[in-house]
Amino acid sequence: MTNDKNKNQKSLVKKLVVNDIVSMKNNEKISVITSYDYWSAKICDNTGIDIILVGDSGGMVMLGYDTTVPVNMKEMLIFSKAVSVGTKRSLIVSDMPFGSYQIDSKHAVKNAIRFIKSGSDAVKLEGGIEIIDRIKAIIEVGIPVMGHIGLKPQTTKLWEGYKVQGNTAAAASQLLREAVELEKTGVFAIVLEMVTSEVAELISKRLKIPTIGIGSGPHCDGQVLVLHDMLNLYANIKPRFVKTYTNLSEVILNAIHNYIIDIKTGKFPEEKHSYKMEDKEYERLVKNITKIKKKLSSSSSLSVTKND
Ligand code: KIV
Repeated sequence: MTNDKNKNQKSLVKKLVVNDIVSMKNNEKISVITSYDYWSAKICDNTGIDIILVGDSGGMVMLGYDTTVPVNMKEMLIFSKAVSVGTKRSLIVSDMPFGSYQIDSKHAVKNAIRFIKSGSDAVKLEGGIEIIDRIKAIIEVGIPVMGHIGLKPQTTKLWEGYKVQGNTAAAASQLLREAVELEKTGVFAIVLEMVTSEVAELISKRLKIPTIGIGSGPHCDGQVLVLHDMLNLYANIKPRFVKTYTNLSEVILNAIHNYIIDIKTGKFPEEKHSYKMEDKEYERLVKNITKIKKKLSSSSSLSVTKND
């Protein structure tokens, strides 16, 4: 009965698909958050968030790498699988890590397929015109792609460091061209990272597909933040565009601190955290122990006598 009820509840959850996200443009802002594991994906999914992004930022916030460059396919697939197990409703987009789509289209398609097999609904690739052939090849095998232009953490850092993008007329025009080109190629949405507000607005107005901003102002069709940033769980880098919604580091620190105190002072565990034997069995055990003790003491006195 309970199982049937659970099954029915499960089937009531409508899984979001790419077209649901696209049709939100001009109707409703799109909410996006990152997640990399089962438990946080489950919480995020229950909030009704539209998209869960398994970002390559997981390399930094989960594995402690300095940048997003070192994270690899194996690690990203583990994150993606765990997120897909914890998610029933949100659309899952997985970041293709650096090195997984740069070589050629065949390699890119092969890796994109691995994400879909691990339970993701779409993949995201960083780059514009320079990777159009790879994006096209992935879309051609039926895999939805999310674009990502502006600051591209996988490579921007190698050239110019983390800097605001699109703050000159020439750079802004280039970003607009890239966005239009990506839309023509068939991406279903584009992340705009650290792009000036004006340019993000221009791009968002020009495109039919949604833009998802991170540090790109209020005019994008949706917003994304890294979960660990908004919960204050990652202190290494704190960009200005991050809004912190709670201080989870402090909450966790206090909880573990109290746990240590409870152990040291004997306040934990209490009776309610322990398991008991049945009285009858305990009495039997006491009798057994008494018998054993008697046996032991008689045999040891015997042996003493012998040695004497
Ligand atoms: O990896 C990531 O979290 C991202 C977002 C910052 C868009 O790509």
